[in-house]
Amino acid sequence: MTSKNNTCFVYITLPGQIEPITAGKLVIDDSADEVIGRFVYGKSYLKRHDAVEIDPVELKLTDKIYETVKMSGIFGAIRDSMPDYWGRRLIERHIARLDVCEMDYLLYSPDDRIGALGFGLNKEPPAPLRKFNKMLDLKKLQSIADEIVNDEVSPTPEREQVEELLLLGTSMGGARPKAVVSDKDNLWLAKFNSDKDRWNNALVEHAMLNLAQECGLNVAQSKIKRVGGKDVLLVKRFDRKHTKDGYLRHRMFSALTALQTDDSPTSRSNWSYITLVEELRRFSTTPCEDARQLFMRMVFNALISNTDDHPRNHAFVAHTANDWRLSPAYDLTPTPMISIEHRDLAMVCGNRGRWANAKNMRSECCRFMLGPTEAESIIKTMAEFIEKGWYKTARRVGVSERDCEAIKSAFAYQGFFME
Ligand SMILES: Nc1ncnc2c1ncn2[C@@H]1O[C@H](COP(=O)(O)OP(=O)(O)O)[C@@H](O)[C@H]1O
Ligand SMILES: [Mg+2]
Repeated sequence: MTSKNNTCFVYITLPGQIEPITAGKLVIDDSADEVIGRFVYGKSYLKRHDAVEIDPVELKLTDKIYETVKMSGIFGAIRDSMPDYWGRRLIERHIARLDVCEMDYLLYSPDDRIGALGFGLNKEPPAPLRKFNKMLDLKKLQSIADEIVNDEVSPTPEREQVEELLLLGTSMGGARPKAVVSDKDNLWLAKFNSDKDRWNNALVEHAMLNLAQECGLNVAQSKIKRVGGKDVLLVKRFDRKHTKDGYLRHRMFSALTALQTDDSPTSRSNWSYITLVEELRRFSTTPCEDARQLFMRMVFNALISNTDDHPRNHAFVAHTANDWRLSPAYDLTPTPMISIEHRDLAMVCGNRGRWANAKNMRSECCRFMLGPTEAESIIKTMAEFIEKGWYKTARRVGVSERDCEAIKSAFAYQGFFME
């Protein structure tokens, strides 16, 4: 494997700051059979009294040279800042090369990426672009996203211009078509519906975020905007805070990084709420509260059959130097299924593996710092609420009768209560 760029500088926007500074250097060494990634914090960065760690798991604030052979030499927190399926698809179209390497994805993705990191070839970071798509652009963005999903884009100069707009949002992860847009005070993640969807995904996800909040979960704020006859889900970015000078950027890393694993099929056995809560208890500043929230999130996911609850759909955020906390919940989607006895979450949730079942989830409740009675009570209350209330919440936010019918088998399925 050969790559043009195998060294880049890693920039960070410190808590309370707007401008990025240089934190360290990343080298991807592909000279041997096994690709090795090396990261080192810069000496002058380490000398700063306000220097902060990139993450508290893999890249703690020390002067050692960190090495990894995982994920083609990409450290977890850096991978979290990179585009995923959707963004990669756009970048590949844009640079029209077949030999795109990991470093290309890192350097091509813009600065609205999650968290506080940035990447570049110069030792000094460039001034932040501060160029965001506006709510007003949503219609254009939605139509080009549609055409890309359907592989129908004809390369006219005008189309290419609009596609450039969409590139501004590529660094957000996930597979669904999306863009980042700003309004007066906030940045939002806009998630588009696609003609191929079986139901109105935007509305259904909005309903699930509402339902989760009603169940006591801390969730990302969301709203629906109707654009060109279609619904767009807008999820407020919890890793940004608007100030009069620009956006503060809160550091963020995924549960995949907390678990020190990746999303290859062979790594899936490491995906576990139980291991995650053990990790979280080590670095969270509010371990009891976060562990309880994680437990509630796991139970909620089981009760709505959100089987897409993989570790990239959980994250940790820090607003100040070391206050790492579980992020609000996001990407909550029901999966209607035929099986009424056995459904699996994406992550291990008890001593009987990934089985989305109350008894299974109770089995390891002490790791979440919950006693059996308390765990039982959380499960019972939530199960009753969701069984009776999901339909009301869905209808209230505008999910159609037809879509409710399509998703109804996802909720409080029979196997959840099996002893
Ligand atoms: N409200 C938010 N604030 C900040 N980052 C977010 C927010 N919601 C999602 N993300 C980040 O964006 C990624 C993609 O969003 P997600 O809703 O999971 O999309 P998809 O449905 O395509 O998986 C997530 O993995 C997470 O890193
Ligand atoms: Mg996701």
